[in-house]
Amino acid sequence: MNIGIIGGSGFIGKRLYFYIKNSKSDFKIYPTYLQNYFSEDAIKLDVTNKLELEKFLLSKDLDIVIWLSALKDVKKCEENYNLAYKINTQPIIDFIDFKIKHSLKTKIIYVSSDYVFDGEKGNYKDTDLPYPRTNYGKTKFLSEKALKNFGHDYLIIRSSAAMGKGGVFFDWLIRSLKKETVLEMYSNIYFTPTPIKMLCEGILHLIENYKDKKIYHICGPKIFSRYEFATFVKKLQPAFTCEIKPVLLEGNSIFQKDLSIIQSDICNVFATKTFENYIIEEILYD
Ligand SMILES: NC(=O)c1ccc[n+]([C@@H]2O[C@H](COP(=O)([O-])OP(=O)(O)OC[C@H]3O[C@@H](n4cnc5c(N)ncnc54)[C@H](OP(=O)(O)O)[C@@H]3O)[C@@H](O)[C@H]2O)c1
Repeated sequence: MNIGIIGGSGFIGKRLYFYIKNSKSDFKIYPTYLQNYFSEDAIKLDVTNKLELEKFLLSKDLDIVIWLSALKDVKKCEENYNLAYKINTQPIIDFIDFKIKHSLKTKIIYVSSDYVFDGEKGNYKDTDLPYPRTNYGKTKFLSEKALKNFGHDYLIIRSSAAMGKGGVFFDWLIRSLKKETVLEMYSNIYFTPTPIKMLCEGILHLIENYKDKKIYHICGPKIFSRYEFATFVKKLQPAFTCEIKPVLLEGNSIFQKDLSIIQSDICNVFATKTFENYIIEEILYD
């Protein structure tokens, strides 16, 4: 099978690339990068350049493309809707146009986000209607809608807060738990941390068991406040001696109150570890 990973140089993309490469020797994988070259297999691609995207899609005879490239900096997206749209939405519309123009067989697994929801009530199921409030969420949802309107050869994974070595929040948390004496964490901001290994397992499972037109929530099994998650992680390592203090986030912020999502049933099929063991593995990951 020929698999493209667009955004292969990102946090999720890199882990996914090495995970699939090590698990499936019969797959040919084509990861892309924009600024961060990371492997001799990596192909330079700017998805905002239509010609480059068309050339990539035509030259690789891809069965499936995993679409990870995005501008996911919520603040930058808020400051510049046009830029968010240019990176997060327009390339998906172009992908669909190229599929039609060249009768491409390539299917897409589009990795979307918990930010497609409004962040008010939390506990969003894969059947709930999205209502994004941020430009990041809006432009991710517009891509979902474009694929849905096209009508086939698409599968959407919504994930949330990928946790693992190499992730900005996770690395900061582990560093702080090791080095700080006191760490203040929000106790009124809720989310669903997702072990990155579990997300990779889920994506590979869906490559091999592709279900057209489906939307899956691939995320951790439990909702945490940021304070609860830090406390949970602290308990996994005796070396983490830092005191964690709950604090309230008040007033306007780019953080949304409750973006927690509920796992789709399929997570029970592919997940190989308990949530706790996935996180321990990441703490010890080399
Ligand atoms: N991380 C999470 O917690 C999380 C949760 C839910 C959903 N998601 C979704 O998962 C996807 C991947 O997230 P991530 O954390 O891996 O993101 P990331 O680390 O920020 O990586 C973004 C990737 O997109 C590439 N990219 C950016 N602009 C591009 C462009 N114009 N053309 C081609 N490639 C471009 C980057 O390439 P270079 O680095 O080489 O420039 C990089 O490979 C995103 O779509 C995000 O919405 C992530």
